[in-house]
Amino acid sequence: MVAMEPVVTIDGPSGAGKSSVARVLAKRGGWRYLDTGSLYRALTLGLLSRGLAQVSNQRAEWICANVAAIRVGADLSAHDPKTFCNGAEVGHEIRGEAVTRNVSEVSALPCVRSGLLLLQRELIALGGIVVEGRDIGSVVWPQAAAKFYLTADLKARAQRRYAEGSTGIDINSVEGSIAERDQVDSTRVHSPLTIAEGAMIVDTTELTLEQVVERIWDEIERKLLS
Ligand code: DC
Repeated sequence: MVAMEPVVTIDGPSGAGKSSVARVLAKRGGWRYLDTGSLYRALTLGLLSRGLAQVSNQRAEWICANVAAIRVGADLSAHDPKTFCNGAEVGHEIRGEAVTRNVSEVSALPCVRSGLLLLQRELIALGGIVVEGRDIGSVVWPQAAAKFYLTADLKARAQRRYAEGSTGIDINSVEGSIAERDQVDSTRVHSPLTIAEGAMIVDTTELTLEQVVERIWDEIERKLLS
């Protein structure tokens, strides 16, 4: 039995299985669930609705000038998580092509990250939560009780995203888009995708969802009970 109100962090690249694993773990522990990628995606959607796609010069300056006009939020239920942009719930559109193509550029900017960092810390502060993202164990909540880094081969990750059917029309374009985002997310200057100190690495390429969950749950129990 895990009886505490822990913060569990799950970082890793796109398609590594973070969302499915994090939600199952949160339900099992009776904890809340936060998908921080959806906050960056909702913000990107807000910027697109203000005209980001039409901006060709000085995009970073334009984004930083517009970001304050967009409020994002989340309902942290593991059973029915919701994301909001300016008070309206956002759905599949944040997983669509336009948002996916722009989100890495948007999320690399310090003016974006600083606002979302505060929001994420406020949401996490009560504890009892599984949080997934790129920099949760390294920057957002390095003091987490248990930290994980999920990864998988690029081909396996592209296959999973393709099967979800939301990010591309053919498997090669999905693979290309993921590889591009991996590159931007892990080489950016501010809070790059990285393996947090003390994180347990789980390669999910050959594992089922259940196997990943069992492995992580065992580690959570070990960490929280020791
Ligand atoms: O997990 P995802 O694919 O929905 O994330 C979308 C983008 O958001 C990802 O390309 C990088 C960014 N992101 C981030 O910079 N930091 C996080 N903690 C989560 C996501």
